[in-house]
Order: sequence, then structure tokens, then C-alpha cells
Amino acid sequence: MSGLLCKDFSDIKAISTALEKKAAAFDSPEYHLKLLLDDPGRFGQFSKKIDGFFMDFSRQRLDWEALNSLYRLAEQTGAHNKFVGMTRGETVNTTENRAALHTAARGTGPCDLNINGLDVHAAMDKVRHEIAEFCQDVHSGTVTGADGRPFTRAVVVGIGGSYLGCEFVYHAMGAKITPVISLDFMPNVDIDEFYRTVAGIEPETTLWIVISKSFTTTETMANLTQVTAWLNDFGLLPEQHIVTVTAKASPGDQAGAPVLKSFHMFDFIGGRYSVSSAVGGLPLSLAYGFDAYDCFLSGCRAMDDHVLDSKQSLAMTAACISVWNSLFLKYPAQGIIPYSTRLSKLPAHIQQLYMESIGKSAGADGSFLSGPAGAIIFGEPGTNAQHSFFQLAHQGPGFPMDFIGVIQPGFTGQQALSKGVTNHQELWANLLAQTRALALGRDHEDPARRFSGNRPSSLIVIDDLSPERIGMLLAFYEARTVLEGFILGVNPFDQFGVELGKTMAGDVRRQMAKKNRNSEFQLSCADPVQDFFVKALFKSETQ
Ligand code: F6P
Repeated sequence: MSGLLCKDFSDIKAISTALEKKAAAFDSPEYHLKLLLDDPGRFGQFSKKIDGFFMDFSRQRLDWEALNSLYRLAEQTGAHNKFVGMTRGETVNTTENRAALHTAARGTGPCDLNINGLDVHAAMDKVRHEIAEFCQDVHSGTVTGADGRPFTRAVVVGIGGSYLGCEFVYHAMGAKITPVISLDFMPNVDIDEFYRTVAGIEPETTLWIVISKSFTTTETMANLTQVTAWLNDFGLLPEQHIVTVTAKASPGDQAGAPVLKSFHMFDFIGGRYSVSSAVGGLPLSLAYGFDAYDCFLSGCRAMDDHVLDSKQSLAMTAACISVWNSLFLKYPAQGIIPYSTRLSKLPAHIQQLYMESIGKSAGADGSFLSGPAGAIIFGEPGTNAQHSFFQLAHQGPGFPMDFIGVIQPGFTGQQALSKGVTNHQELWANLLAQTRALALGRDHEDPARRFSGNRPSSLIVIDDLSPERIGMLLAFYEARTVLEGFILGVNPFDQFGVELGKTMAGDVRRQMAKKNRNSEFQLSCADPVQDFFVKALFKSETQ
């Protein structure tokens, strides 16, 4: 079976053509959301829930015919079966010829999961056990900094998938649990970021967690070098203050570079899908304790199970809606607006998860797609977003948005009343008003005060910010992304698009390195812009 954007899609062409027709019909006034929402049964029909997680998609520009065609399309592309196969270790990452088993990191999938002779669940259990033991030792003061004082702070050094998901979950879980060890994140190779990070920390009580699957990522390696030099200045050694998370047999997994402890991740878990593996597991367990991380994993598992059990799951429905919005209704962007500051790092994580997975021009079968896949994802927490880009969302070119609400905030103290309501109620009043205003719009004789409405959104609601619910939210977006990739026919697990820029940075870097080694070397880049700025950079350094 092939995907929607693949050349050979004769079996799904009829559905695709019907969806194109339907999408054209949605341009006409009788499909305006304000009319669709007149149906009192719509909310009940266009919403789904599982324990602790609710999704209302009644404000999407959809009707039953469109939704059923989208479900049929998903069925024809074999998206659900591929998802099941993924959790069973099938080679779904076709271009890199490997499995994609992030779901196994939380125990999803059959018990006897074997990849190239490796018992996957046993290997994952072993890593989890090592994490639990190490964190216990750090928390109890058995493992300490070089001068015998306990670690009180940890800095995560890693970028992209070795950073974003962990940062999102760390901030989200902090609503309910106070960290034992607080985390800082240092993803960028920007020296000012290093300076900011070390400005407020005590070297002897700080643990550095270097996370890189490949252990070749330039930024992370440069930061590791910088951190090691900084530790040396204080007479501290990497084997006293640095731990690593890396793939087995990576350059960081060698005995030649001793560290305090090393934890493994596996080549069949992609960076952007790795939060539930040691990549998130180690920092989160250090911060909140292994039990909290374990609860987070059970939330991920609950969502995985739901997606496996239902061909029309929450994630499948969201994937279908995303395909509908980007491919048929031609929206180039999607907003993610969590009405919770604790979830403020979610949009950045989904940006990588979705855009690195779906933003493709080649199919999983190796051919060019009939058109580029993917949409631009961006977002900010509400209500901040309302005071920033909602002008365009209401009156500029519209785009679909996921609004995310949390029923119970982490804060359990007394809230003051302003205009008769608590802050949390105010937050919800805004969330509920925005989705309605975007959908209905408002007529006005003054064009500046007219709102055309008909702007689609989904409302995703979780009960609270417990580790379980955060796990569900993470696994929901992971599954939605994977399913969308399967429907479109792209490989949601490779990322060849990040390579060209990295290669070109190598050309510039080589010029700089030569000049650093030999001040007489004449800088000369073929590209005039590169040439100008590389020379300017060296000039500024010698002034
Ligand atoms: O450049 C993109 C990328 O390869 C991501 O896919 C990955 O998550 C990130 O870089 C970091 O990679 P690593 O964990 O190997 O350092």
C-alpha cells in the first residue's frame, strides 16, 4: 500500500478526488462554521475522549462525509496497520532500513520483541534500572560531586531531539512536583548561552548530562569541549561531573573518554521520538525521581494502547484532520496554543517532532512526492498568544490551531478573584471565547471591525498536569505525527533535509580552523557572503 502523495496511488485516487471536491465545496457560504455549529448534536458527534484526555474537533471545517473519507483514506494507506507493525519492530524506517521503537521505551508492544538478536524490552528494562539506581545514589548522596557535596543542579547539554522533548516535560511536570535537582538546558553552541548557564552555578555541585545519540553533533561536541575546559579550570574531571546518554557503540560510548556514568539509547529510537527513553528518563528522574518518570511512561503507554486499539483513535482523527487542513484546505501553517504556561515548551517540541518528520519532498518508497508534505508548526501559550499574533489569526489569513486546556492547575492554594473569577477561570474564559470567536466571526459595517470567522480549531483537554497526563499528551502528538506520515506516504523517521546546511557549515569551519592554526593563512570562501563575513569575524577578533 502506498501513501497519498506517492506516485502510485491509484487505489486511493478516488478518495483523494472526492476529498478535493469536498474541500472546494467548503469554500461556499453554506459550509461556514457558524452554520455547521448551529447543529446542536455537532459537539457530541465531533468529539472523542479516553480517560483523562478529551478532544473536541467540532470547530474544524469538516462534515461526516469528509471525515469518513479521511478515515477511509487512512485505511487504504494502511496507516493503522503500519503503526501496529511499528510497535512490533517492523522496519518502518525504510530509508534507513531499521525499526522505530520509541513505543517500546514505555513497554508498548509484544513481550517478545527482538531486533537483530537484541531482546528489546530486556535492554530497555536494564537501562531503566540503571537510571533508577543512579538517581537513587545521587539523591541519597552516595554519588556526589568531587568535593563530596551532593549534586543540587544538572545542566542538560544536547540539541534537537536530545533536548526539546525533555525540556517540555521537565517544565510541565514541575506543576505538580518540586524538583529535587533543578535542570538547566544548554542546547546552543552560542558562547553567550554557555556564559549565561555557568554564571549562576556552583561547579562542585553541578552535574552535566551530555545527550547525543550520534555523539557527533557539532554543537553538542563543541559544548562538551567547552564544559570540560571549564571544569578543568576548577580542578574537576569529566569522570566526576559528566554523565552521558548516547547510542551503543557511538563515539561517546568508548572507554577512551571516561565519564561518571553512561546510559544507552538505541539506534531504533529516533532523536525526536526519544523523550520516553533514557534521553528524557535520566534528566527527569534526576529532577523528579524515578517513580514520577515511571508514571509519565504509563501515561505514554495508555495513549499508545488507545491508538493500537482503535482505527479511529484520537491521534488518527487528529492526523486525518491535519492532512485535510494542509493538503485539501491548503492551510500552510498550524498553531499549537496551550492555555498553560507549564506547557509552553510543547509547541517547540512539536515543531521538531512534526516538521522534521513530515516536511519531506520524497516518499518512503524513494520516489519524489507529487507535492511537498507538511505544514509550518508554531505556537505560544495562551493568553500570551492572544496579545501577540491573534490579530492575524482573526483577521489575516486564517490557520488551524490546537487549543490545549488543563482542567486542574498545579497550584492548589487560594486564588484571588478579579472581575469575580479566579485566574484559572479567566484563562479558561479566554480559551473558550477564542475558539468560538475564530469559528463564528462577527458581521460589522466597518471592515476594520468585521471578523469573517470560519477559522478552524480543535480543543484538546487534559485533566491535570500529572506525569501520566503529560505522557498521554506527548504520545498523542507522537502518534499523530507517525500516522500522518504513513497516510501521506513519507517516512516520518528520517531527516535527510538537515544535512546540506551541516555540510556547508563544514566548508566554512575548515577555513576558520586553518586560519586559527596559521594566522598567515589567506581566508577565501567561494561564496561572497561567506567570504565577507568570515573575514569580518576574524578582523573583529584581532581588534
Ligand atoms: O540535526 C538534526 C538532528 O539530527 C536531530 O534529528 C537530532 O535530534 C539532533 O540533530 C541531535 O542529534 P544527536 O542526538 O545525535 O546529537
